[in-house]
Amino acid sequence: MLIFTALPPLSLYVHLPWCVRKCPYCDFNSHEARGEIPEQEYIEALLRDLEQDLPRVWGRPVQSVFLGGGTPSLFAPASIDRLLSGIRARLPLNQDAEITLEANPGTVDMDRFRGFRAAGVNRLSIGIQSFDDDKLRALGRIHGSVEARRAAEAARAAGFDNFNLDLMFGLPQQTVEQALSDIRTAIGFAPTHLSVYQLTVEPNTLFHARPPALPDDDATWEMQTRVQAELAAAGYRQYEVSAYARPGDECRHNLNYWLFGDYLGIGAGAHAKITDRNSITRLWKIKQPKEYLRHAGTPAGIGGEQKLSRDDIVTEFMMNALRLVNGFPSPLFQERAGLPLAVCEKPLSLAENRGLIEWNAQMVRPTPQGRQFLNNLVELFA
Ligand SMILES: C[S@@+](CC[C@H](N)C(=O)[O-])C[C@H]1O[C@@H](n2cnc3c(N)ncnc32)[C@H](O)[C@@H]1O
Ligand code: SF4
Repeated sequence: MLIFTALPPLSLYVHLPWCVRKCPYCDFNSHEARGEIPEQEYIEALLRDLEQDLPRVWGRPVQSVFLGGGTPSLFAPASIDRLLSGIRARLPLNQDAEITLEANPGTVDMDRFRGFRAAGVNRLSIGIQSFDDDKLRALGRIHGSVEARRAAEAARAAGFDNFNLDLMFGLPQQTVEQALSDIRTAIGFAPTHLSVYQLTVEPNTLFHARPPALPDDDATWEMQTRVQAELAAAGYRQYEVSAYARPGDECRHNLNYWLFGDYLGIGAGAHAKITDRNSITRLWKIKQPKEYLRHAGTPAGIGGEQKLSRDDIVTEFMMNALRLVNGFPSPLFQERAGLPLAVCEKPLSLAENRGLIEWNAQMVRPTPQGRQFLNNLVELFA
């Protein structure tokens, strides 16, 4: 039996699935918007979806909301306003809740950002990817470097003092110097947070069918280490595989995922994880936006539901928490997994012997070696 002494913090993820165009590397549940996006209808569907989920989290305060996609910035500020008001009317949002919206530089201007700010969004995450026109073209992005710069500037000018820039490295034909130049440009906009992802070629993408020429492993490794050094020198602390922040500006929403907190997920294909008295449930919504619009808020809108087994819980906890540079406090395992840490004593000792983690009664932390071979480390808990 699982034993929880307290329920974990609760977040809300909202998926807005449309984009102007599908990027050739992207395997997210995102769909090219052909014609007008049914904004009003979709927001009504989201709120019905939320209402159906409410009994699972009665009374629990929500500490963060993340409007992700897809391209949420395609929605009009008035629609985002209706959505956030609808959420507030149904869920107790903490007064200081972090409310993030993902924006694509090809879809925004200052007025739009001001509108999102007025609607209650207090953090932006801008999908810059690169400041180099050739690279943006190779990535099939809908924007060039001018729009990328303009978006980063507009964020601050519109009153967002908390914003993230998404960058990717290991891009087609990219040199180490080019990757560093992107990082330096990004730092120049003084964001509070930077997410720096290595480009991966995912199944079911155009890049998978027609792979571009990517830098070799040595070059990518050098990019990674020099990017880390550049960011550290500028005061951005790496706290997760791809996440860097000024101290105190870590993304609360993502940290809650990594620390195995709870979250509701509304919208096409959105996932949720909910702890109750003695079990942890995963729940996901149907993926196709058209179907979702029709069925959201009814049992047919649920794509599936599963109670996690003890093994699932251990694996998923470790898969998330070991991504964090500082790992996790040891007592958190009992708190969030509902099991004593002793259940993973074997793999913990094995990982320690292989130099992949350090652990004691206070904390469990991946070593630099463990971070480099994270997949091998996590496999020990599978
Ligand atoms: C869901 S996207 C949200 C932002 C927005 N849709 C955009 O692209 O501007 C989140 C981020 O994941 C990263 N990403 C997406 N696909 C990736 C891939 N195949 N490899 C590495 N990073 C990827 C990109 O940096 C992207 O900004
Ligand atoms: S804009 Fe973002 S979500 Fe949309 S296809 Fe491109 S990477 Fe994927």
